[in-house]
Amino acid sequence: MELNILTLCYLIGSVTFIIGLKMLSNPATARKGNLVAAGGMSIAILGTIFLYEEDGQKLGNYGWIFGGIAIGTLIGFLAAKKVKMTAMPEMVSLFNGMGGACAALISIVEFDHLMERPPFAEGFTAFPPLSFLIEEPAVPYGKILIILLGLIIGSVSFAGSMVAWGKLNGRVKDFSFKGQHIFNIVLLLAILGLAAYLITNITTTNHVLFYVIFALSLLYGVFFVFPIGGADMPVVISLLNSFTGVAAACGGFLYDNKVMLTGGILVGAAGTLLTILMCKAMNRSLLNVLIGSFGGNHVKAATAGKQQGTYKEISLSDTAVVMSYANKVMIVPGYGLAVAQAQHACHELEKLLESKGVEVKYAIHPVAGRMPGHMNVLLAEADVPYDKLLEMEQANEEFATTDVVLVLGANDVVNPAAKTDPSSPIYGMPILDVELAKNCIVNKRSMKPGYAGIENDLFFQPKTSMLFGDAKKVLQDLIGEIKNL
Ligand code: TAP
Repeated sequence: MELNILTLCYLIGSVTFIIGLKMLSNPATARKGNLVAAGGMSIAILGTIFLYEEDGQKLGNYGWIFGGIAIGTLIGFLAAKKVKMTAMPEMVSLFNGMGGACAALISIVEFDHLMERPPFAEGFTAFPPLSFLIEEPAVPYGKILIILLGLIIGSVSFAGSMVAWGKLNGRVKDFSFKGQHIFNIVLLLAILGLAAYLITNITTTNHVLFYVIFALSLLYGVFFVFPIGGADMPVVISLLNSFTGVAAACGGFLYDNKVMLTGGILVGAAGTLLTILMCKAMNRSLLNVLIGSFGGNHVKAATAGKQQGTYKEISLSDTAVVMSYANKVMIVPGYGLAVAQAQHACHELEKLLESKGVEVKYAIHPVAGRMPGHMNVLLAEADVPYDKLLEMEQANEEFATTDVVLVLGANDVVNPAAKTDPSSPIYGMPILDVELAKNCIVNKRSMKPGYAGIENDLFFQPKTSMLFGDAKKVLQDLIGEIKNL
């Protein structure tokens, strides 16, 4: 009876995870989706703790288990409460790393368990080479394979996520040396070769080799992420996220645990899909992301000193007039809007303009900001209605009929070099065609480049005017000016 209830708990965990994922694909249902999936997983976890039995024995160790859960919950809760929206990718990276570490630890513990059981516990020290080909081998080769997969993938994900976390918060600088990609390939082949050797020649003396594979996998995780440019960290984190999913699925195989398996596979698949979508949105291949060092220092060095001509500024009062008498205004939010936390002021401006009969919409670039859906989340926080957010393709169709585009802290996603300059590192990335509108007003604090580290021709075009200042302050002042008109 208890087994059936446990199976039901796992079924609930799996189904709610799938429903939750589906709900996450829409900003209107995302928050609820997260809760639904977390609720289902809690049922599966509690079911395991209280109902799971092996050889007639329950898990026990409740003090340790609930002590760990309490500490983890407290840290997770405080971290999630405290985190700034702009630091979200960092936190995702850190938490993802913890998932990878868990998978690797499971493998370490299970390898030890395996070595304590027959046939190893009964004094076997060596097996004939390729004995895994024997019909009923004495050694559970399949299990060792899964343990090693969990160890390698989990360790790479943990070490890589830690480096990504350090890069995003500026503690770790880009680092690469000549021939690093070759070094990485050799290191990976060495890990796989040693793992294959361990499986086919397993003996009780193989503990050392097991820990060598563990150490090399950690090293590979570090060297895998080290040379990748800072701007590409969100893509890498998504890729590492899919690694963690696969490593967790290995745990599901080991324990014959359906919900762990389903969860791991879904996370693995979702992470892979997200990685592909992000690469597509930037018009770059995954290989280019992994070896391109995009957003690295060399890009800044290559473009520094490029002369662009002159730009013109616009005053707040002129901006107020131009926007108030427009028929249609399109707001283009970018990373700077998130930095300034200006989403509420932005929504207020939108409502004020609409009260004056101006049609206001938002043009959302898929990689604006620093994480997938960054702008959607930011604007949802300020209660901007979803139907006002246009996806890039839709927005590009509407720019020609737009009187004023207001670019708020966006840069790379409106850089025409992506269309016109084959030597640009962002060449080929689809962008928002803001220059098609009658007027383009760009708000940022200076003429400094965006994340890709390159100049933006848009700022020097005749239809563009620069409105310098912190986005929140500028928007608040602009609202004041419009009210005084
Ligand atoms: P960016 O190109 O990074 O430009 C942001 C601009 O905001 C900067 O030029 C900065 O100029 C301005 N800014 C900063 N703080 C500000 C403030 N307080 N007030 C006003 N302006 C401020 O941003 P974007 O256009 O959103 O493009 C995103 C970039 O990140 C792309 O290169 C994209 O490929 C990359 N990326 C994104 C993702 C995802 S998933 N979103 C993933 C990987 C890479 P000043 O310093 O002069 O103010």
